Amino acid sequence: MPKRIVVLISGSGSNLQAIIDATQSGRIDGEVVAVLSNKAGVFGLERAANANIPTEVLDHKAFDSRESFDAAMMELIDSYNPDLVVLAGFMRILTPEFVRHYEGKMLNIHPSLLPKYKGLNTHQRALDAGDQEHGCTVHFVTEELDGGPSLVQGRVSIELDDTSDSLQQKVHVREHQIYPLAVEWICAERVSWSPEGLLFDGQPAPAEGIQFQP
Ligand code: GAR
Repeated sequence: MPKRIVVLISGSGSNLQAIIDATQSGRIDGEVVAVLSNKAGVFGLERAANANIPTEVLDHKAFDSRESFDAAMMELIDSYNPDLVVLAGFMRILTPEFVRHYEGKMLNIHPSLLPKYKGLNTHQRALDAGDQEHGCTVHFVTEELDGGPSLVQGRVSIELDDTSDSLQQKVHVREHQIYPLAVEWICAERVSWSPEGLLFDGQPAPAEGIQFQP
């Protein structure tokens, strides 16, 4: 049975697009059954509509607490009966209740080589630290912000003339490679989740995630 995937976005949705493309080509044995945004009018919603995927907008500003917003999101997401919830540039902090509800079946992509640079401004922080490498990580979501078990990482080298913008562009290329790959593996049931670590094809995955080879 193809897996049912719900994608949460807040913006342009280029990662959403990469995942849609991989479902449409048949590479991912799954279907994006809904796209939910906490912001109206973002380009990601247009991408979903162009692919005939149902869209939902739930404006967090219309709720008086994080808890009530997350409860409404859960109800909406669950109405699509997802096997997998994919955060693709969804820029909201989630409540522990929400995270626990989707334990083991919610993924996030973060623009750094976790555990480095959790949180925001990751490209500038990598530059400021004088790092020679940067990248992105797809990880399972746990209650620790940007802290759940990593599944796959994509690396880029930092050159002397790189800026935060140029790095962001390079990292985006890797994001669009590793996010569909991670979703493909999960839909093919090659990944088993536990809070202590991941198994990939029955073997323990490296703590920092499988390294994507471009
Ligand atoms: C991506 O670069 C993703 O890594 C980042 O938001 C961007 C969304 O781009 N996510 C985070 O920073 C999460 N903390 P997209 O809307 O074009 O996919």
